[in-house]
Amino acid sequence: MLNATELVKELQEMRDSGYLSDGLLRKAVKSIAESDLRFDWVGAYLLRENGEELWLHNYVGTPTEHSTIPVGTGVCGMAVQEKRNVNVPDVSKEENYLACDPDVQSELVVLIRAGDEIFGQIDIDSEEEAAFTDEDEAALQAVSDKLAEQMMAERR
Ligand code: SME
Repeated sequence: MLNATELVKELQEMRDSGYLSDGLLRKAVKSIAESDLRFDWVGAYLLRENGEELWLHNYVGTPTEHSTIPVGTGVCGMAVQEKRNVNVPDVSKEENYLACDPDVQSELVVLIRAGDEIFGQIDIDSEEEAAFTDEDEAALQAVSDKLAEQMMAERR
């Protein structure tokens, strides 16, 4: 189980020592992937191309062909288009799903956002069906909010 309080604290300490979002995104993805055996693939996608495409920033797991995803496509692109987190308990029943690995059963996308502004998302795949709980989503949202805080600060 992810200890979000601890990870958010570590991310804030990185900010205090001058790390930029690049370092924070890598640390977050690595720590999330190591935290739970249900999390088989973890990645961070960032919104690029005038907010029309997601680009894969970094990941832990098997390589994916989906290094870029248009907004509106797949579970990842749908989350941005609909401005909401998406928890898919059974990917075989989701029409808007881009398959990476045939062993994946469920997927959770949590947006990295500051209010209405979306910077990107944390995407997690699991080989277990219905792997993700509301507690997972809340924990990942806390981490994503800290990432968004840094990304917002870098725009100044
Ligand atoms: N399954 C995602 C694509 C990204 S991979 O899971 C790494 C989707 O449907 O958007």
